[in-house]
Amino acid sequence: MAISFTVNGEKRQIDGDPAKPLLWVLREDLDMVGTKFGCGAGLCGACTVHVDGNAVRSCQTPLGDVQGMAVTTIEGVQKSDPGKRIAAAWVKLDVPQCGYCQAGQIMSATALLAQTPKPTDEEIDGAMMGNLCRCSTYVRIRAAIKDAAGIREAKA
Ligand code: FES
Ligand code: FES
Repeated sequence: MAISFTVNGEKRQIDGDPAKPLLWVLREDLDMVGTKFGCGAGLCGACTVHVDGNAVRSCQTPLGDVQGMAVTTIEGVQKSDPGKRIAAAWVKLDVPQCGYCQAGQIMSATALLAQTPKPTDEEIDGAMMGNLCRCSTYVRIRAAIKDAAGIREAKA
């Protein structure tokens, strides 16, 4: 069955099993390996992409569900203004450690800023709580989101 959608603004058509997770369509069929496999169970957030602007877990999103929709991945996130600001803040504050979770973190952070330009600490925690980081970069992640949002961090 042919499923049509866009990825980072480009039209794509996949003739495949509509039940195949979007994560594996991106990695295997479209050779876009920036989106990472972590748990495969919706628990870690490593596979986060945007579907019509919302952060979703691509390991839990069947291909058939994105018919006609707009998918954005880490490869294309900097095309948006919030994505550009988040990526710049990530570099400026040197957020990643091993890096494995970071594509997912950036996708969740960008979706947050796109929908809530000046998020509170609670809104940041709520948006990011599903993205786990083995290296515990959480303090720098929060600081980088605030930097990208133009929110001054209170000094201790
Ligand atoms: S790989 Fe999708 S949430 Fe962990
Ligand atoms: S930077 Fe290593 S898992 Fe997050």
